[in-house]
Amino acid sequence: MKKLSNRRVRVVFKVAVVAAVLLQLLRAAAAAQATANCSTSCGNISISYPFGIEPGCYHVGFNLSCDHSHNPPKLFLGDSTVEVLEISIPSGTVRINSSSIVPSSPSASIDGKMNKSGRYHTWSGLRKGGPFFVSPDKNRFLVLSCNNVQVLLLGEDNSTVNACATYCPPAPGKNQSFQYPLRNECSGIGCCSASIPKGYSSYSIQVQVQPPNNISEFDAESSVYIAEEGSYNTTRLIFETLDTLPALLDWVISNSTCKDSPTASACRSRNSYCQNYTSYVYNGYRCRCSAGYQGNPYIQDGCKDIDECARWELHSCYGTCINMPGTFHCQCPHGTYGNPFTEGGCIKIKNSSQGLTISLLISCGSILLALAFVGPFILRKIKLRKAQKAKERFFNQNHGLLLQQLISRNADIGERMIITLADLEKATNSFDKSREVGGGGHGVVYKGILDLHVVAIKKSKIVVQREIDQFINEVAILSQINHRNVVKLLGCCLETEVPLLVYEFISNGTLSHHLHVEGPISLPWDDRLRIAV
Ligand SMILES: *[C@@H]1O[C@H](CO)[C@@H](O)[C@H](O)[C@H]1NC(C)=O
Ligand SMILES: *[C@@H]1O[C@H](CO)[C@@H](O)[C@H](O)[C@H]1NC(C)=O
Ligand SMILES: *[C@@H]1O[C@H](CO)[C@@H](O)[C@H](O)[C@H]1NC(C)=O
Ligand SMILES: *[C@@H]1O[C@H](CO)[C@@H](O)[C@H](O)[C@H]1NC(C)=O
Ligand SMILES: *[C@@H]1O[C@H](CO)[C@@H](O)[C@H](O)[C@H]1NC(C)=O
Ligand SMILES: *[C@@H]1O[C@H](CO)[C@@H](O)[C@H](O)[C@H]1NC(C)=O
Ligand SMILES: *[C@@H]1O[C@H](CO)[C@@H](O)[C@H](O)[C@H]1NC(C)=O
Ligand SMILES: *[C@@H]1O[C@H](CO)[C@@H](O)[C@H](O)[C@H]1NC(C)=O
Ligand SMILES: *[C@@H]1O[C@H](CO)[C@@H](O)[C@H](O)[C@H]1NC(C)=O
Ligand SMILES: *[C@@H]1O[C@H](CO)[C@@H](O)[C@H](O)[C@H]1NC(C)=O
Ligand SMILES: *[C@@H]1O[C@H](CO)[C@@H](O)[C@H](O)[C@H]1NC(C)=O
Repeated sequence: MKKLSNRRVRVVFKVAVVAAVLLQLLRAAAAAQATANCSTSCGNISISYPFGIEPGCYHVGFNLSCDHSHNPPKLFLGDSTVEVLEISIPSGTVRINSSSIVPSSPSASIDGKMNKSGRYHTWSGLRKGGPFFVSPDKNRFLVLSCNNVQVLLLGEDNSTVNACATYCPPAPGKNQSFQYPLRNECSGIGCCSASIPKGYSSYSIQVQVQPPNNISEFDAESSVYIAEEGSYNTTRLIFETLDTLPALLDWVISNSTCKDSPTASACRSRNSYCQNYTSYVYNGYRCRCSAGYQGNPYIQDGCKDIDECARWELHSCYGTCINMPGTFHCQCPHGTYGNPFTEGGCIKIKNSSQGLTISLLISCGSILLALAFVGPFILRKIKLRKAQKAKERFFNQNHGLLLQQLISRNADIGERMIITLADLEKATNSFDKSREVGGGGHGVVYKGILDLHVVAIKKSKIVVQREIDQFINEVAILSQINHRNVVKLLGCCLETEVPLLVYEFISNGTLSHHLHVEGPISLPWDDRLRIAV
């Protein structure tokens, strides 16, 4: 009996597990179907997640409805009456057809709350608390009236968030109509405007008649808008009242800040990040694609790499452009150096070895003919010339590198610090052995006299190009340092394969000597500590 019931329990359990798995599969299938069947447009407005029309296609609060009874169809937020004109996912905005707060015809009404003779009107239609808010930077609160009125803009908590006042001076001549300012200005005469504070999704206005005015209150000629800046012509609005104007809304994906939801779960795409949308009255976040990427951060792999090289002129890359994930590289073409970000910034490296071969070929014939007579003379000449060319080549190469290093710093320092090889040969008696004052694994140091100054000339042994690059970089840095405890770099010679460095000469031996040699010249321990500190 006990065994039987045990088995029954097990069977029941198995059935339950199978059913649960089946249910899960069905649910997954339903979800997949839902996404496969999501509308991607309504009329010519494209729709993508988090927006959607069908259930399962949208994020909470981003449901839309497409009214096919119009031609072309009209798109609305939720099931409300706010008409959508455009959706932008990258900038996180929605353009809507915003109704004027005071309708032009006295009988019209909004939400049944409108009362022309009453002084309390609302601009609503957006759900309180988001996710849609009137974009503070892109819209204006606009009042057109020729009555002397003060209009207060109230937030949804009835606090006054802004205000503006209009005034119309009496017409200059009795029969003359008032000349409105025609400069599309809205600064108080017949028209006033104010900025929109951030974080409110509905507003109301309160009209206060200014004391000297005893004619009427807000009349049928008056209108109030929340409208996108640049979408209207004030001069035209004064004469022609419109029922609607476009307005731009911001939207946020979540009502928590980036910190509250550290994973920022809504930012699903790689290369996207969470951006706070906070104001005095509301905290939320939205998602952005990282720099160098664009697209939809709310869907997987929605942020796509921008191919900067396709529009290289936009990034002012005049050299060779190489696109990379999230960025791009711009470099001077092979055989040139300089700044690839300016037009004509890449300078050709003089190709002297080619010139040398040509000159060698030309001189070949004459060498054969006159070898017996002037052979040694020509050979010496060629040798000299070769040395000269090598000097030029090294100079171009090293100078070019130095220039590149200094291009963003102080370029005239570079010119001042360049010393010719001839000068250094003179200073050291052609690098005579007797002028060597030190040496080691890295190279040799010569003592010389240059422009009546005693200098130390450092001849390094590095030959790898990459090391020369680092070396040149160091020269660029050292050239800017002027410190009592740092040996001053006076200049450098670029005409050798490895540049020569010229320092001020410090007498009294080397550092190594002071540190390692016992005797009266050795540095006391206290001094060493002080220097180290
Ligand atoms: C999409 O929805 C329509 C009805 O609106 C339905 O007939 C069709 O089977 C659905 N397609 C898919 C792939 O689910
Ligand atoms: C949709 O079409 C209308 C005119 O038919 C045009 O004014 C509007 O700019 C279009 N919107 C988009 C997003 O292409
Ligand atoms: C759609 O959005 C509106 C708000 O605009 C909301 O009242 C309504 O419940 C939503 N409908 C669904 C099915 O989520
Ligand atoms: C805005 O709405 C009004 C009234 O419904 C309509 O006449 C007008 O064409 C709409 N504007 C746009 C740009 O769709
Ligand atoms: C409009 O407001 C006025 C005064 O506030 C009131 O007397 C009148 O009944 C209102 N009309 C409507 C249609 O609500
Ligand atoms: C704001 O004021 C209006 C009119 O006085 C009132 O009907 C409404 O309930 C008030 N709203 C709040 C949130 O206090
Ligand atoms: C003022 O205008 C009315 C009609 O607009 C005209 O009949 C009248 O003659 C005008 N008076 C003067 C002084 O211009
Ligand atoms: C306002 O005008 C009315 C008549 O239109 C008049 O009776 C009243 O005294 C005026 N009030 C003021 C403050 O001028
Ligand atoms: C505004 O409209 C007026 C009258 O139609 C026109 O003269 C003016 O050029 C317009 N201004 C702008 C900035 O479009
Ligand atoms: C945030 O939104 C969720 C779902 O819409 C809601 O339940 C919650 O109360 C909201 N929290 C705040 C602080 O508004
Ligand atoms: C977002 O706002 C919260 C609360 O103000 C703050 O702690 C957090 O550092 C902000 N995060 C970012 C990415 O700005």
